[in-house]
Amino acid sequence: MINKIKTNGIYSSIDGLHISHPLSAIECLSEVVADFETIIEIGYYRGGLTQYFAEFSRDSCQVIAYDIKDDERKKQNFQFNSKITFKTQNCFSEESVLEIKSIILNSNKTLLFCDGGDKDREFNLFSDFLKQDDVIMVHDYHDDSLNEEYAMHVNWHHAPECFYSEIERSVTNNNLKKYNYEPYRNNLIGSFIKE
Ligand SMILES: C[S@@+](CC[C@H](N)C(=O)[O-])C[C@H]1O[C@@H](n2cnc3c(N)ncnc32)[C@H](O)[C@@H]1O
Repeated sequence: MINKIKTNGIYSSIDGLHISHPLSAIECLSEVVADFETIIEIGYYRGGLTQYFAEFSRDSCQVIAYDIKDDERKKQNFQFNSKITFKTQNCFSEESVLEIKSIILNSNKTLLFCDGGDKDREFNLFSDFLKQDDVIMVHDYHDDSLNEEYAMHVNWHHAPECFYSEIERSVTNNNLKKYNYEPYRNNLIGSFIKE
């Protein structure tokens, strides 16, 4: 990981390709990325996190990433890992929702990473489809049931986009449990596993 992943003090990069997460978040993800057979990312932007998932997951893992636009990724002129399928689709379209549901139901252990344009909505929509032992993560997350400031642990300049209070009902109804919760939360990621 050392040579491929770098940081500019705020964001990280893989082989020079921007990832919209701090290095400490990537270090957390490295502990679990090899556990999954399927990884679905909502919102791939330049494709940096997608490339990270593909490079560091097991060989048999399929990585499927959705974004409503593809211009930022195309501009990079980057040779992406062949495990990746990029889909330029609105994740909330009927087609995408049915497709994502079907991928989850027909795959083994899945990680669903919500990092698109409406993260509460992504979590609340897609968490209904999870199977036992699947994991859902959501970026720009703040647990507002705790009396702590957002982003107190990392050098992050963006406001939270997903609050625990906005996803609590889905967590309860879908029998989701906190998963390696503290290290992820400290890196602005909400992390839950379906029991
Ligand atoms: C924060 S960026 C993703 C960063 C990326 N995951 C990374 O770590 O480098 C959010 C992305 O969500 C995409 N997005 C916004 N609304 C969307 C939608 N309805 N469906 C799919 N993607 C969407 C945006 O185009 C943008 O590229």
